[in-house]
Amino acid sequence: LRLVVLISGGGSNLRALLDSAADAGFPARIVAVGADRDAGGLAHAEEFGIPTFVVAPSGFPTREAWGEELLEQIQRWQPDLVVLSGFMRLLPERMVAALSPALINTHPAYLPEFPGAHGVRDALAAGVVETGASVIVVDNGVDTGPIIAQQRVPVLPGDTEATLHDRIKPVERELLRQVILDIATGRLELKELARS
Ligand code: GRF
Repeated sequence: LRLVVLISGGGSNLRALLDSAADAGFPARIVAVGADRDAGGLAHAEEFGIPTFVVAPSGFPTREAWGEELLEQIQRWQPDLVVLSGFMRLLPERMVAALSPALINTHPAYLPEFPGAHGVRDALAAGVVETGASVIVVDNGVDTGPIIAQQRVPVLPGDTEATLHDRIKPVERELLRQVILDIATGRLELKELARS
């Protein structure tokens, strides 16, 4: 399974995926990594000799034009699946339409609880005793697509956004790895899921 991964930040989830994909037996290969800015996480890809590309919105007159270029850069690699992993921008509708349902995203909360860019902070602020991690098919909303997999993560007294996010990330990484395995082995049909 050919994967293109998109990131915006440090790429710790990407790193875990790179390590998994490096196992000969893992049936998925990361063929390229893209970002909307010169994210630190691109260094992980470079370390594995994987091509990277940056498509910064600042270089484009509109979000749509940015999306067209990003889509073009992604499709050059002929991915079977595009994975958003810490990618912090909303994709233009034409891009979602072109890629879906082979377009998934990880989110550090138990969707539909706490969608959006601050899922960890929001869970903490809400005072819940448990939150989670989710992998979804991307649709045109913010973290509103069909849920593929999710798992609960406890919030502990004294948690900060950082300590809670650090507890969520390993769960998120394992969920993502499992989902990619299930897609690569045919156990999971995204087309079915997206139609539901
Ligand atoms: C991840 O938890 C991701 O789900 C969220 O932001 C975090 C990105 O972390 N959107 P990293 O860039 O993978 O370290």
